[in-house]
Amino acid sequence: MATKKIVTWTKKDLLGLEYLTKEEIELILDDARSFKEVLTRPLRKVPTLRGKTVVNLFYEPSTRTRTSFELAAKRLSADVINIVKESSSIQKGETLIDTGRNLEALKTDIIVVRHNCSGAAMMLSRSVSISVVNAGDGWHEHPTQALLDIFTLKEKLGAINGINVSIIGDIAHSRVARSNIWGLTKLGANVTVCAPEGLIPAGIEELGVKITNSVDEAIKRADAINVLRMQFERDRAEAFPSTIEYFKTFGITEERLKNAKKGIIVMHPGPINRGVEMSAEVADGANSVILEQVTNGIAVRMAVLYLVAHAKREEAPTDAV
Ligand code: CP
Repeated sequence: MATKKIVTWTKKDLLGLEYLTKEEIELILDDARSFKEVLTRPLRKVPTLRGKTVVNLFYEPSTRTRTSFELAAKRLSADVINIVKESSSIQKGETLIDTGRNLEALKTDIIVVRHNCSGAAMMLSRSVSISVVNAGDGWHEHPTQALLDIFTLKEKLGAINGINVSIIGDIAHSRVARSNIWGLTKLGANVTVCAPEGLIPAGIEELGVKITNSVDEAIKRADAINVLRMQFERDRAEAFPSTIEYFKTFGITEERLKNAKKGIIVMHPGPINRGVEMSAEVADGANSVILEQVTNGIAVRMAVLYLVAHAKREEAPTDAV
């Protein structure tokens, strides 16, 4: 019988799935399962992070990530402060590092940072001794999104090893794609990426993924598809002639899903451009787990906050809850 390796979390930060081992990813997923149970209780709160302060430092807009980090911190009894670029001294030219050092001087414990620059979370983590959690940095990584995607897949399919996942859409500019590729391949999934030629980044196959430009082929081989948003705010308009043509060639429709495996799982990190990446019928259809992904984001982020706050300690979260 296979025995599970006992893993101790030693990292003060969560910067990307590239930097985690398979065992560390599994530890987060296991802890998230315990925290998901907490969220089903009449009183959805545990004292695990009482006395700690979590700062949400967001340089880019967010609905799901910011709200679920706030909920996760509050469910763990932490105090939460939200800083958005528009109403902070970032507007007066304060740098990311100075902002981080000031938050540390204010005796906060964890900074959850979203930034438009790839590498921003890592730069911040090297400038402060408190924990830094990457909530999405440029095109680099969005680790908690991938963790909640993988958590949802594991709930639905029982295991990740050997499953076929197709990631469809703007692969080149997607931090969600990159984090999913790192996480899924480390856990043994077969990953296919599907995009127009111009949105497939050079060298992506070195990460152990298959490539196709045919959305029908990507759907046919998949147990799950993860459909990415076209990132119009990042100047992606020129990557495809028009959104109408994109939908015709790459959009996920009920018609296209007729050729899929029975029970195929349809995922999207949100926000969805309905009628561009997928039809409204697919987004709201029987195969869609999009809102379950959002719900699972709270448990996954509780696990991440718990682990970085207790780095080097060995207690299981169930002891703490
Ligand atoms: N999936 C995701 O990151 O959504 P938000 O931009 O709303 O946080």
